[in-house]
Amino acid sequence: MNIRFSRQSLRFILPLLVVLGIFALAAWPLVDSLTQRWFVRDVEARSQLLANTLEKPLAEFIPLNEKARIGQLLDSAIRDERLFGIAICDPSNKIRYKTSFYLDSLGCQPLKKHSESGVTASLLDLPQGPVHITEHLIESNEDDTLIGKLILVQDMSFMQNRSASTKMWIIATFILLGAIISAITVVIAHLTWRSWNKSMKQMIRGELRENPDEPPPPEFEHILGEIRALMRDVSMEQREIEGLPQIWNPDRLRSLLHDELSGDEILVVSNREPYIHNQAGDKINVLRPASGLVTAVEPVMRACSGTWIAHGAGSADRQTVDAEDHVRVPPENPSYTLRRVWLTEEEEQGYYYGFANEGLWPLCHIAHVRPIFRASDWEQYVEVNQRFANAVIKEARTDNPVILVQDYHFALLPRMVSEVLPKATIITFWHIPWPNPESFGICPWREEILEGLLGSTILGFHTPYHCKNFIETVDRYLETRIEHEDSTISYNSKLTQIRPYPISIAWPDPAEEAAEPSIPEARHSVREQFGIADNILLGVGVDRLDYTKGIIERFEAIERMLELHPDMIGHFTLLQIAAPSRSSLDEYQFFESRVLELANRINEKYGNNSYTPIILRIEHHTNDDVRRIYRAADTCLVTSLHDGMNLVAKEFIAERSDDHGVLILSQFTGAARELHEALIVNPYNIEMSAQALYRALIMPEAEQRDRMKAMRTQIKEYNVYRWAGRMLADAARLRNRERVQQRIYSYSRKYRHRGYPL
Ligand code: G6P
Repeated sequence: MNIRFSRQSLRFILPLLVVLGIFALAAWPLVDSLTQRWFVRDVEARSQLLANTLEKPLAEFIPLNEKARIGQLLDSAIRDERLFGIAICDPSNKIRYKTSFYLDSLGCQPLKKHSESGVTASLLDLPQGPVHITEHLIESNEDDTLIGKLILVQDMSFMQNRSASTKMWIIATFILLGAIISAITVVIAHLTWRSWNKSMKQMIRGELRENPDEPPPPEFEHILGEIRALMRDVSMEQREIEGLPQIWNPDRLRSLLHDELSGDEILVVSNREPYIHNQAGDKINVLRPASGLVTAVEPVMRACSGTWIAHGAGSADRQTVDAEDHVRVPPENPSYTLRRVWLTEEEEQGYYYGFANEGLWPLCHIAHVRPIFRASDWEQYVEVNQRFANAVIKEARTDNPVILVQDYHFALLPRMVSEVLPKATIITFWHIPWPNPESFGICPWREEILEGLLGSTILGFHTPYHCKNFIETVDRYLETRIEHEDSTISYNSKLTQIRPYPISIAWPDPAEEAAEPSIPEARHSVREQFGIADNILLGVGVDRLDYTKGIIERFEAIERMLELHPDMIGHFTLLQIAAPSRSSLDEYQFFESRVLELANRINEKYGNNSYTPIILRIEHHTNDDVRRIYRAADTCLVTSLHDGMNLVAKEFIAERSDDHGVLILSQFTGAARELHEALIVNPYNIEMSAQALYRALIMPEAEQRDRMKAMRTQIKEYNVYRWAGRMLADAARLRNRERVQQRIYSYSRKYRHRGYPL
């Protein structure tokens, strides 16, 4: 135990000793009077016993005045060492007989005090010491007339000695007790301190939690937040010292492409396209889809140009492409090419709705919706993957492009492409969670999917936990060589690196931000648009209408919060924006009706003509609208039951330049791994979410600011350019290594005949 620890222990032990001392002093008079009463009772009982023994013979001897026999009787009784003296008085209170030590001064006067035991007794303090006197009546054996009184005087000095030793024992007991409690306390405190220290170290190293999706135990939450903030500051300072660019941005990404990938060709392939052209009467509207994938990849494509290959799903998509199915986007400032791939209704049904969204989506999310696997959907999935693979191969102008494959729609494509373009660098990013091997194992085509993905050069997930799940799944179902140390899998002589790359958003450009409505303007316009009074606290939810997003649980938490805090009725409203999604699937239609029903029920229960607790808008909103809503909110609720990352949480933070607003975030999102200053909830625990919501609504401004500032620093630095930059930098490193190995190989072939060592 070190000196500091001993000093801290003393801080506890000294007050403990003082308290015990006070107790000992207070307890002493009580114990003393108690023991005295016991001793007196004991003496009275002894006196009574002796009197009973003497009464009969005395009643016989006194009337006969048999002095000698009375003397003998009293002398044999007085042998008891505590009996000080005995006297016999006549009814007129005169001493008739007495033993030698009986003091004349005691006389025969009747005693005043009647003791508890019914014996007539008194305690006297004589110069010789304290004595106890009892008086017993002697009645005639014949007619019960009073013939005298027996007075017994007992020595009580033993009581003083016993009282002194009791006092000593009490003090000794308290001292011993103090010493034992102190020793136990010091040992327990020391052990607790050591185990806390050990757990803290493990927590920092990330070893403590088996499932990193779980938030840290509450006792570590605060201190971990402080450590993280400190580490961020240190890393910023370090960068300043080393003259490194502060944060990732489009320019840094462009220069990475230029310097490290020498301007290599970049191709992106995803199912969802970033711009959908729709016919609206005789006009063509451009729609930005509600998709986390699009939100993240679009700014990267703007920064590095290239070609994005995606399904042309809009009603006017065919009218807006050229002969090669290309269209330059973004429409307002074209900076890259969108190549559309067309699918028949049957193909879309089987590949997109069927296998991807009724099979893989629920399989990977584990949100308690049963995956459906149909052989016909699988056939379409294989077919469409091949169609997109062909499109990628056709778009490639070189034999070694960098291909960024997006999401669960294209699990087979990496292998299909690598078989034709073996020199291509294929980076596949899986935007949704990867489940544990048991859960994934129910997929009838699990081996094919794993083989397809292992056609990638790099396979990315949002979190290390999903990487671990994937590696374990491969280990369970395929014959491969896995290097756990550097997270690589070798299958059919192709090496795939498995890496976590937490996806993010583009941090708003200061110029763009300045053009946006100010926070008060946004608050005003959103309240006006949705008819929300000024004194109402506003919560927002922005999601696709998907059963994984925890919308039902969110509404239930609101209902519970209003139930627990009726003062919030009429003072809190949730504005829920729900973009329609995959609505031709039964599960989604069923989900929509449940959401509507619950919102109506809660509104009927707590609302009135001028107040609606839940405003539900099942429709698409433009990015500008959504940003305005984020800026108007007091709190944002992200309660996904399972989510790879969830960019809504990050978008909300990016919009809060005023450092105001509280984020409530599900522990089952990838975002919860980074946004530790959010109020982290388990969405299945309605009670917990209701409490978190109330806490958010009453959170002091200063706490909101502290939390928001920390999260903004995090997202500003860990933005989407960093996500793409890290993946591309890893790809560049691998390509470089490949090139060097090629060169070494060609030297060895060239000089083999000269004895060049291989
Ligand atoms: C998730 C998926 C994306 C998908 C998005 C929207 O974020 O990871 O790949 O684009 O949902 O779904 P949708 O089916 O409309 O494309």
